[in-house]
Amino acid sequence: MRIPDHIIEEVRQRANIVDVISDYLTLTPSGRNYKALSPFTREKTPSFIVSPEKQIYKCFSSGKGGNAFTFVMEMENIGFIDALKLIAKKVGVDLSQYEKQSKTTQKSQEEREEYSLLTWGAKLFHEQLQTSEGKLCLDYLEKRGVLKETISKFGLGFSMNSWENLYDKALNENHDTEKLKTLGLLSYNEKHQKYYDTFRGRLMFPIFSTAGKVVGFGGRIITDLKNSPKYINSPESNVYEKSKLLYAMNFAGQEVRRKQNCILVEGYMDAIALHQEGITNAVATSGTALTPQQAQLIKRYTKLVTFIYDGDKAGINAMMRGVDVLLEEGLHVAICVLPESEDPDSFIKAVGKDEFQHYISDHQQSFLDFKLGILKSNHGFETAESTATSIRDLVNTLTKISDELEVESHIKWLSEKTDFSYGLLKKEFLKAAKSKQGWSKASVQHRSQDHRYPKSQTSSLKPSSQEEKPTVLESTFIKALLESTYHGYQILHFVDDHQTLFSPNHPWIRKTMDFLLSRYHELKSSDRLTKKPPIIAREIDRIDDQPLRSYLSSLLMSDPISERWPTETPQDYAQRCLKEFIDAAIKMNLEHFSVQKSQLINELNQGLEPEKEMRVMKNLHDLQINENKAKKHLQEELKIFNGNDLLQ
Ligand code: UTP
Ligand code: MN
Repeated sequence: MRIPDHIIEEVRQRANIVDVISDYLTLTPSGRNYKALSPFTREKTPSFIVSPEKQIYKCFSSGKGGNAFTFVMEMENIGFIDALKLIAKKVGVDLSQYEKQSKTTQKSQEEREEYSLLTWGAKLFHEQLQTSEGKLCLDYLEKRGVLKETISKFGLGFSMNSWENLYDKALNENHDTEKLKTLGLLSYNEKHQKYYDTFRGRLMFPIFSTAGKVVGFGGRIITDLKNSPKYINSPESNVYEKSKLLYAMNFAGQEVRRKQNCILVEGYMDAIALHQEGITNAVATSGTALTPQQAQLIKRYTKLVTFIYDGDKAGINAMMRGVDVLLEEGLHVAICVLPESEDPDSFIKAVGKDEFQHYISDHQQSFLDFKLGILKSNHGFETAESTATSIRDLVNTLTKISDELEVESHIKWLSEKTDFSYGLLKKEFLKAAKSKQGWSKASVQHRSQDHRYPKSQTSSLKPSSQEEKPTVLESTFIKALLESTYHGYQILHFVDDHQTLFSPNHPWIRKTMDFLLSRYHELKSSDRLTKKPPIIAREIDRIDDQPLRSYLSSLLMSDPISERWPTETPQDYAQRCLKEFIDAAIKMNLEHFSVQKSQLINELNQGLEPEKEMRVMKNLHDLQINENKAKKHLQEELKIFNGNDLLQ
């Protein structure tokens, strides 16, 4: 079942754009509006304006604009329904009942079952910590300084040291064992044709999706069993795609956004330890190589990553590779190398939060400085050959960066730090960039389109010709029509009844008018025009065309038509709006007469043969009569508004 309109409306009414945007940007008051630095461009002077009155924003540096919903859609890179859910959560509207029913497909039914089995498993493991056998695990956690609150926040648990503990419980509770196997909680022994518990005698880390649902598990060994891997992890499944997930992102997201920095660590325990110390913008890759999708996930929250892997060789090598992945996705990276035998968990436990933070700010390096340092210490500059390889390696990393100015300063820096001239490095860079472009141009273009502005941009309804924006008249007409919904629905009602009178040419104007009318119909048929009707002008997020939305929000951002001359009462404002609408509508409707007339007059001025001249004169005359008729007709039709009180 889809979410009913009145619920959407309730979210809309409760959501204040200023509150919503404040979660992402620092807003400062400026007259009737608020200002901020644009989140879409890098700018020094704020050109991002939020109007609390109109509940819209406009970014003058990128041209984007819209309302609270479109803002969240843009920032989170999600669709309307997901944005609605996020905002609903924030304003306290409960959508859970629709969520459950909203997806009726086979797949989502299956997914729900999977989630519920995984949650069941997580609860079971967590409860087992409190058993006598679980004491071993609790002691282990205590020894490692993991606090009770942390155990419950991260839902840590214990898997019994048994082959069929979870299996028996699953049978008792009638759970689908085959599904449990797909999810990795059970394994199957072909020889004995038996299911058995995958995780035995391990400290269990539930792995949460970004939305906070359990999607899998990591289980750490806590005894010194030989021949058993330190960690066992759930396999990939329907709901668990390792390459797209970062451990602890569900807890860290908000803070990453607030701090505009994401700390990236390797292990579950590293992320947990930092969170426990109050450094809650940390997430972990959990031992896998960093993927482009993970970098994209980070980019939804911030552009800056602080990379702190283990201080050992493996950690450093992983960072050497990871840097390129982050840069390629347009992220900025600072790297911190820990003392050799430390990981973030051991280090923060050893020195405490303050010292840890000091260490990071003292030791963080640019990616280039880091890479150069590592190459140097790995004998990368000892022979001519190794030097050439190292330089090529560094230059290759620079090709991942798309900002040319940034690349330029890195090349300068590199030439200062090495004995290579700027010119030579630049030449190498161009060579590397060219060969990279050769094979990846198409995919890069495809990708950046893909995740920046999903669908809306590609399916955008373009004005018939690129530069053909709506005329001033058309803009006035549609602005007045939009703004009329601040005052009630009489004008829309009228337009609805007299659609033949209003036939704008421009696709944007037509689409907006159609949108307003269809919303009007929906509201009318659900009988919701009477009590506190929604203001349709605020619903521009429903228009699935980003350039059009931006155009409309600029229109709405300028002073309302009715306020061009200050007046006294709300009725006066409504009346002014109406007057502007009628004027614009009449002019727009008569515009084609003027165009035709001036064409004919042009012809006459060129000097015609008498017979033809007569014909043109006659046409002109007819045109004039038709224009007068049309004008009169329009005025008649539109007169019903005169003296009419528009406010209900
Ligand atoms: P580490 O070996 O650094 O583990 O592996 P850790 O998280 O620091 O754990 P402690 O502190 O020794 O208890 C880093 C990450 O790599 C993955 C896990 O996600 C781990 O958190 N890993 C490691 C595995 O998946 N399997 C393994 O066998 C080892
Ligand atoms: Mn570690």
